[in-house]
Amino acid sequence: MKKVFIKTYGCQMNVRDSEAVTALLRARGYGIAGQETDADIILLNTCSVRDLAEQKALGKMTGLAHTKKRKPGLILGYLGCMAQSRGAELLKLPAVNLVVGTQKFHHIPDYLDELTGRSGVPAATGVGKIVDIAAETGSESAVKHHTPGKVTAYVSIMQGCDMACTFCIVPATRGSERSRVIPEIVDEIRQLVDTGVKEVTLLGQIVTSFGRKKSEFVKLLTAVDAIPGVERIRFTSPHPQGFGDDLVAAYGDLAKLCEHAHLPAQSGSDRILQAMRRSYNRAKYLKIIEKLRAARPGIALTTDIIVGFPGETEEDFAATADLLRAVQFDQGYIFKYSKRRDTPAATMPDQVPEVVKDDRNQVALAIVNAAALCHNTGLIGQTVEILVEGRSAKGAKRMLGRTRTNKIVVFAGTEPQAGQLLPIKIERATTVALYGND
Ligand code: 5AD
Repeated sequence: MKKVFIKTYGCQMNVRDSEAVTALLRARGYGIAGQETDADIILLNTCSVRDLAEQKALGKMTGLAHTKKRKPGLILGYLGCMAQSRGAELLKLPAVNLVVGTQKFHHIPDYLDELTGRSGVPAATGVGKIVDIAAETGSESAVKHHTPGKVTAYVSIMQGCDMACTFCIVPATRGSERSRVIPEIVDEIRQLVDTGVKEVTLLGQIVTSFGRKKSEFVKLLTAVDAIPGVERIRFTSPHPQGFGDDLVAAYGDLAKLCEHAHLPAQSGSDRILQAMRRSYNRAKYLKIIEKLRAARPGIALTTDIIVGFPGETEEDFAATADLLRAVQFDQGYIFKYSKRRDTPAATMPDQVPEVVKDDRNQVALAIVNAAALCHNTGLIGQTVEILVEGRSAKGAKRMLGRTRTNKIVVFAGTEPQAGQLLPIKIERATTVALYGND
């Protein structure tokens, strides 16, 4: 039996896509290798959002090409966003057999059958395939792709993005918005609950645009909230523009909707927000934060920030730093602006030098980390509800769970606790995790 290993880069959508491909291949009779060295087929599910992510996958493939010299039968492939945006170029790499873009994952078993000779035709060694993006309804169900035994599940509700943020490559790699319909999603979640799932994360490139009609996303959240057995609902990734009064109110009304909102601010400067073509300004953004905190006291707030966007001056960056200090986010992800091909910002004048980006990155990180630590240490002594996800990677005896506010809790527990909702008293905290029952 040929064994496959999939290495995943990037966002939760990629994690979910890799799970789906794994399930399809398992159903077709392929083995799943626990580690790369045991695999006959290695697929890299790639990310294009920043250059660093692409460089990692390119570097990885260079290493695998060396391995292939010793193991000539090894089949190597690129999947996902980079395959979509740099397909032809990747296929030219001599070691690469397969390149599959973001919308054609369901063909992977057929392609591999062909490449391995399983389909009856002689193995087409060295032959690669490019699959271009196609507008699909995205109606495939994740149920059959769900990893058995897991209590948390990703559910794809929509794909693609119609926004025009000037820095972002995602509309090019994931195509335009396509939403699934509510009854189909509800049905899928019911089935997931039957397999033991307690927490669902609704996934999409821009979930708040779900269904395109006003309030359609809130309708979906309300429908999911009514499903017996669902304990927690999360969603990612949203756009601040989607946090209208209806969604803000949902945080007060829907008991299962976890008290965490991710609101990618990107910048605190109105001038930069406009150049990024974000549809809000600083004041509107801060108003949403204020409303959310009023609707659900104690809500955890997280953000994404880009530093060094073209034309960002010291004054613009000071406005971002000031926003970070004003909001005191529970967690923040700071990214140095990275030029993406065929995006408007890539050719804007006044690109910011790397050293300046580095400095601003450090400053922003320090503010974000101080706030995160402050929030986390504030929980010491409190008992919080966690959903136990499994063993903590770090220690065999320690288990890992998450609070409703999406904070990681590591605690001294046992394997049978996986899947349970437990009260844990927090004893210690860092910027990234809480520790209890030590
Ligand atoms: N450069 C740096 N960061 C980017 N992001 C998206 N595109 C870029 C880019 N070109 C960041 C944004 C987004 C997160 C997922 O990645 O902050 O919210």
